[in-house]
Amino acid sequence: MAKKVFITSKLPGKIDRYLRSRGFTVSVYTGKEPVSKNELIKKASKAEGIITLLSNKVDREVLDELSNCKVIANFAVGYNNIDIQYAKKKGIVVTNTPGVLSDATAELTISLILACTRRLIEAEKFMREGKFKGWMPDLFLGTELKGKTVGIVGAGEIGTEVARRIKAFKTKIIYFNRSKNSIIENELKGKKVSLDFLMKNADIISVHLPLTEDTYHIINRSNLKLMKKSAIIVNAARGEVIEEKYLIELLKKKKIKGAGFDVYENEPDINPELLKLQNVVLLPHIGSATTETREEMAMLAARNVEAVLKGKKPITPVN
Ligand code: GLV
Repeated sequence: MAKKVFITSKLPGKIDRYLRSRGFTVSVYTGKEPVSKNELIKKASKAEGIITLLSNKVDREVLDELSNCKVIANFAVGYNNIDIQYAKKKGIVVTNTPGVLSDATAELTISLILACTRRLIEAEKFMREGKFKGWMPDLFLGTELKGKTVGIVGAGEIGTEVARRIKAFKTKIIYFNRSKNSIIENELKGKKVSLDFLMKNADIISVHLPLTEDTYHIINRSNLKLMKKSAIIVNAARGEVIEEKYLIELLKKKKIKGAGFDVYENEPDINPELLKLQNVVLLPHIGSATTETREEMAMLAARNVEAVLKGKKPITPVN
């Protein structure tokens, strides 16, 4: 009998067709919002393979109901939405989508940095409100990247791609990472430093750590308060890596220059205090949101499902 694959959302590209052509029965949840936990359990309980979104929480309660499941392919590089240890105990392979989204996420991060340093969103709003009455020497003065120190927190693939791109703006790179990054050291002349040193010395801080038990609130009141008054921080990784409440305090009191958010601590809920601030740029978690990348992510997820259900090794396993 054909093995069943459940996809928790319509995904870019034609992976449902691809999986059918490989002999699987495919069903796709077509709701406009992320599938609810109950619905996920109901729809996925018989499936051998499941493709999930980062907005689907796959905890013990869900995993206990997936009696046929052999593989969960997360349509994301981050997989903090899945209890991977418990999945492993149940014999379920979990996979993610590394590599294919690094360029898109780096491009978005650079956009977020420039939106903060050049006040792009504020300026655009000003235009739409009909407030532009002519060129003035002090209209929307921002800060230049040239000569500034950029601190990359988490120098994996995405952090490395951000470092490569930001270097072209004539910046200096420092980075915080468990291991030495030879591309940043050799090609970009960047230096590995402690997190405290980075927080204290960087003009722009860019966060690229995965969310794990070790990185939860790794950026917190004790190191945020080391930041320069002129510095900005951007996060296109996971909200919970930063103690958001304290960052908001600093922004409110103008103890730092600004911040760019693509992710939030209680996503999709947003702290209402953030919406009142002028010195922030707020995006709805769109780091990897390009057509090209999302199609590649979908294909990689589908190929992971196919591999496991055909008894082969997963391409990008995480547990
Ligand atoms: C996006 O946040 C991802 O983890 O792919």
